[in-house]
Amino acid sequence: MFGKKKSTPQIDKEQLELIKNAQKRIKQKKRLYFHFVLFLIGSAFLIFANTVLGMGTELTQILGTEWFLFAILIWLFFLMYHTFNVFVTYKFMGKDWEQKQLAVLVDKQKKRIEQLQSSLPKETPVSKQPEIKEIPAVKTINSNQELTVIVAAAENNAIGKDNKLIWHLGDDLKRFKRLTNGHHIIMGRKTFESFPKPLPNRIHVVISRQQDYQVPEGVIVVNSFQDAIDFCKNDPQPYIIGGGEIYKQALSVADKIELTRVHENFDADTYFPQIDMSVWKESHNTFHTKDGNHDHEFSFITYVRK
Ligand SMILES: NC(=O)c1ccc[n+]([C@@H]2O[C@H](COP(=O)([O-])OP(=O)(O)OC[C@H]3O[C@@H](n4cnc5c(N)ncnc54)[C@H](OP(=O)(O)O)[C@@H]3O)[C@@H](O)[C@H]2O)c1
Repeated sequence: MFGKKKSTPQIDKEQLELIKNAQKRIKQKKRLYFHFVLFLIGSAFLIFANTVLGMGTELTQILGTEWFLFAILIWLFFLMYHTFNVFVTYKFMGKDWEQKQLAVLVDKQKKRIEQLQSSLPKETPVSKQPEIKEIPAVKTINSNQELTVIVAAAENNAIGKDNKLIWHLGDDLKRFKRLTNGHHIIMGRKTFESFPKPLPNRIHVVISRQQDYQVPEGVIVVNSFQDAIDFCKNDPQPYIIGGGEIYKQALSVADKIELTRVHENFDADTYFPQIDMSVWKESHNTFHTKDGNHDHEFSFITYVRK
């Protein structure tokens, strides 16, 4: 599953802006913290210089009180001005602002989904059988987009067992990383849970029916397959990465399949739907032999819609 295709990062502009704002915010807070520490040390030094070393006694006489008090007060004013900038002037870039932006985005998508849902067929229950037929759906994404299913499947279409992959194929994983780098990756909740942690430089869009499904920061949760596709509307090539339930819903709307066909049969509990050759045609096929790092023969096959 996982060829040599150069991939350009295509992270949504709005999301990139959110990330940049978050980084800026962290830097601001760090600088304020250092300023505060410097203020404490500096104040202590000024007191020491005046009271112990006797520096600036003439100034004290002119001012009528210890000069370090003035110096500390002026510095305190600058520190407060700095704090005001970080927590008031730039407040719009904080968590609340991010949440509001997300809510606006979700709200827009919900309205669009409501309009689209009337034309969508009802979802049917999933049965984990080797002979899975895809669910017909309506393609609602923009025509410039190449919605791509990426999968590694055995000859009998087995893809997973006990929420794990059945094989370890290093070159397949490398290909997966190279192709999906910088893109949205759409997945079912179970596939997401099979990862030790989110993959870097990819936007994870996790589909779950659970309304309060908790995920690490940066991971997006949506409640339907359609929401996932809508969320990725600005990515020219979002990848649908599994698992079985999601592939079943994806095949009717996908433009491309990047399949790694592992040339053996495996015992499994999750399967990829049969690829309908009246709908798909093969555009590339590269065979990979067994070797010291790969226990099975496999082929990278690309299918495009006829
Ligand atoms: N070989 C490969 O290339 C490959 C790739 C990926 C995964 N896998 C394997 O596939 C297996 C996991 O696949 P799976 O079929 O069990 O699970 P899955 O497709 O990863 O996730 C299923 C879950 O997605 C949510 N979901 C599915 N359709 C939905 C919809 N229309 N609306 C809202 N939520 C929806 C539900 O989550 P909630 O229950 O939270 O509602 C459902 O339980 C694992 O063994 C994994 O290793 C293999």
